[in-house]
Amino acid sequence: MTLELVRFINRTVELERLARYAEKGYYPVFFLYGPEGCGKTRLLVEFIKIIKEKENYVVIYVDAQDTRSIRSCLYGTEDIVSLIPTIVGVVSEPAGKALAKILPYVIERYFERKILGKHVIIALDDVVRPLGLEIIESYTKKLLDFLEWLISRGAKSAFIIATTSEGKSRRLLARHNYVTLHELWNLDPNSTKILLNELNCPQSMLENIWFLTGGNPRAIIELALKNWDIEEWLSNIKVRIRASLEKALGKFKVELKHVLEDIDSVLDNPKILEILLDANLIAPIDRPCLGYTPPVNYELGIGKYYAWQIPAYREVLKQLLKAS
Ligand SMILES: Nc1ncnc2c1ncn2[C@@H]1O[C@H](COP(=O)(O)OP(=O)(O)OP(=O)(O)O)[C@@H](O)[C@H]1O
Ligand SMILES: [Mg+2]
Repeated sequence: MTLELVRFINRTVELERLARYAEKGYYPVFFLYGPEGCGKTRLLVEFIKIIKEKENYVVIYVDAQDTRSIRSCLYGTEDIVSLIPTIVGVVSEPAGKALAKILPYVIERYFERKILGKHVIIALDDVVRPLGLEIIESYTKKLLDFLEWLISRGAKSAFIIATTSEGKSRRLLARHNYVTLHELWNLDPNSTKILLNELNCPQSMLENIWFLTGGNPRAIIELALKNWDIEEWLSNIKVRIRASLEKALGKFKVELKHVLEDIDSVLDNPKILEILLDANLIAPIDRPCLGYTPPVNYELGIGKYYAWQIPAYREVLKQLLKAS
């Protein structure tokens, strides 16, 4: 589960929408995606913290990336969550992956009576990487069957939410009517400022850090943990980008330079689009996003259709291309 180094900031609109779906139910499966570290897990966990306390709600959260034990991947309604590890027993795969796959069966087989007349919320965090792109479509279809089962067996309402920051899954899932896609973007400028102040960022650096992180909370926390040493942070990013774009840097120099100037030009170049999505450097932007929707801003590398996940990626790539 996500490290809670700092108090949860804002996301009021997003929380309100999720709470509404939890109460009224949502059809079909709700897929949340967005830049790495933008706060998907934290939003889910904070959401579940709130609704878990409500009467008549059954909530189960699974961290599909957690490999430790079935118990450590689970969070939610205690009388269900505490029984699941014994029911599931020993698994031959990483715990989170195994649990994400088996959970619908476990609920159907053992907890039918517990869902009767309840608002049921199932949250499956970061499911795409552990399960694999090749099965994510069929898995999501199974989640829809599970959603229908919950409703048919007397749940008052049902809401299944899954998340991913895996770059290619959005396109795969977009082909199907059993899922709807929703994007969470980085924090808005005002929330970013609050987060920076909470972390005691020097006032003289506030603006520069906004222009480098674009409000990405993980990037901001990383910088705080590095004592606001921007050079060191950028040099770590440089190593990462150099490694993930190794061949492309030489082979597609001209095309990459073009994308640096106009991010939406990736739409004209499917190969570059795939490379940058695959490396998780850019993300599509759905307008509107679930809550805060970033306006087009070329200074921050935010186009109408695509954006750099954090603006620093563009700056670092610029330097790498200059040097190559
Ligand atoms: N609104 C917020 N207020 C304060 N801290 C936040 C907020 N959103 C996220 N964080 C913090 O930022 C970090 C990254 O968030 P989180 O892990 O939720 O991102 P993510 O989108 O789930 O990332 P990934 O794509 O890798 O799964 C965490 O330490 C989290 O606690
Ligand atoms: Mg996450």
